[in-house]
This record gives sequence, structure tokens and C-alpha cells, in this order.
Amino acid sequence: MTHDVMSGGQPIQQPDDTRALLETIYQQARAIEGGEVASYIPALAEVAPEQCALTLATLDGQSVSVGDAAQRFSIQSISKIFGLMLAMERVGESLWERVQMEPSGQPFNSIVQLEWEKGIPRNPMINAGAILVADVLVSRYSASKNAVLSLVRQLCGADDVFADGRVHQSEMAHGHRNAALAHLMKSFGNIEADVDEVLDHYFWQCALTMSTQQLARSFAFLANRGVCPFSQKRIVARRDAQRINAILSTSGMYDQSGEFAFTVGVPAKSGVGGGIVAVVPDYGVIAAWSPKLNHYGNSQRGLYMIREVATRLGLSVY
Ligand code: DON
Repeated sequence: MTHDVMSGGQPIQQPDDTRALLETIYQQARAIEGGEVASYIPALAEVAPEQCALTLATLDGQSVSVGDAAQRFSIQSISKIFGLMLAMERVGESLWERVQMEPSGQPFNSIVQLEWEKGIPRNPMINAGAILVADVLVSRYSASKNAVLSLVRQLCGADDVFADGRVHQSEMAHGHRNAALAHLMKSFGNIEADVDEVLDHYFWQCALTMSTQQLARSFAFLANRGVCPFSQKRIVARRDAQRINAILSTSGMYDQSGEFAFTVGVPAKSGVGGGIVAVVPDYGVIAAWSPKLNHYGNSQRGLYMIREVATRLGLSVY
């Protein structure tokens, strides 16, 4: 797997052996101490914390993985992209009257900004924005969960992707902050459906479980201008792929998005299950997972692995 990558006009030395590079980065990541497994959703706190996985899938159809790359985990906020794709397709431009496309500069579950801004979330990647998107899906699909499931299964090429019922129920029982966000938006008239139904969809979607191998494959269309490189099927319009990547660049890593752009330089999305998916336009997808999180809610080891792969292969888009 060699690529002519240029940096500052100079070709970057490409490793002959991608697997050896990933293995080195993976071993270095495993030595990183610190971070905490998410515990505010009790079922997530039970996950074995030292697990670690890294997958690099390129648009030529190659996929290289190291570590626990076949192990499925709770994708949590990474699922917000699937919901957003369906909502963009269903309601078009009017979506952007109900949710903005600006970075929030606040933690992903912050409430305060939502009141100042009269129930219009800053972007679809913070919890308030994703709950708004869930409202669109519940209101505009007769079976919103089936719509998400069939999209995800199509993208990753597997029929056996499911939500983890324990994680779903666990978050339902402890999701008071998300319920507060949903009710606040309802009070401003920005939620149409029944709040409990919206939250049920949102928590279910966050509880989807996938591996880094499946995630890397699922997001390849975003690196390929909206076309799945494996099936050659158009998944979203080219403009929508650009828009989703733009939102990931500014808001995908929450209030660490600026630092991530600075040090890594590709669109990416993280989840509190410890997964991170990074989209490298015209090249491929890097997916990493390890459950222990930094204080922004991003995987400590996952960040290291994505940053090292992007840096050593010269993948920044800037
Ligand atoms: O709503 C929540 O808080 C979780 N279901 C998802 C949060 C999440 O993954 C944020 N990611 N960094």
C-alpha cells in the first residue's frame, strides 16, 4: 500500500509495510496510561478498559487492522453521522433552520448555550443537535430505527449489526441531562414528536455496536465524495459528503476539535464508547478504539493512534 503523499512540496517517505507501521503505533498506544472509561452510562463502565484496536481502510479496497479490530463496541456519538445523513436526505435545507453548523466550544452535553440560543442547537454533533435529528427521524419515518439499521448494514456490508439492549436501557435510565436538553428544545417549539419517543430513538442509536473494521468500511463513502468505493453505489450527494466532512472538521471532536484539526488535520468523529473514525478525503478511513477517555470524552489511545497514522503518512488535508 504505497501512496504519493506530498508535504510542503516534498514526498513523505511511505512505509512499505503498512501493517508494521500500524503494529508499532498500536503497541505504543497500549503503553499509554491514564484516562477513564465512561461511567455516566453504567453499562459502558463494565467494558474491559485495556482493549485497543486500529484499522486503516483505503479506497483501493485494502484494509489493515491490528489489535481488537473485530471486537464490537458501543459506537455512541459516532452514530450521529448516520442519523444526520438520513435527516439531510429527508428534509433537505429546512434542517438547517432547526440546527446550526457552528462549533459550540462547549462540552458535548452542555445545556447552557441551548437556552441562550432559544432551543436551536449549535450543530448536529453535540447531544442537543443529535436529539433534534432524532426528532426529524421519528417524525418523518414510520420506523426510524429500521431506517438507521438498514443504512448502517448497507454501509458496513453486514446484516448482523444491532443495538446493545443493555446499553440502550442503561442510558434510558440515566439520561436525565439528555432528557433536559430534549424538553428545553420542546419548550422552544423545536421538537415535534413525543419527547420520550425521540429520546428512545436517540439512546437506541447511540447503543449500536460495531468494530473498527466495520466503522472503517462504513465511512469510506465520505472519503470518496459520497460514493461507496466497494459497491460503487452513491450513498449521499457529493455536496452532502462535503458538508458532513465540514461539520466533522469543526465539531466532530467536540471542544477538542480545534486541537484535533491543528495536530491531525482530517474530519473525524468520536464517541464515549472509545471509538474514533477519521475520514481522509480521496484516501481512506482510519478507525481506532480504546475505551479510556480524556476529559473531553475522546479516547486517549484512539487519539494517539489516529494522530500517529495521519502524521506518519502525511494525511492532513491542510
Ligand atoms: O448522549 C450521550 O451522552 C451519549 N449517548 C453519547 C455521547 C458521546 O458519545 C459523546 N462523545 N464523545
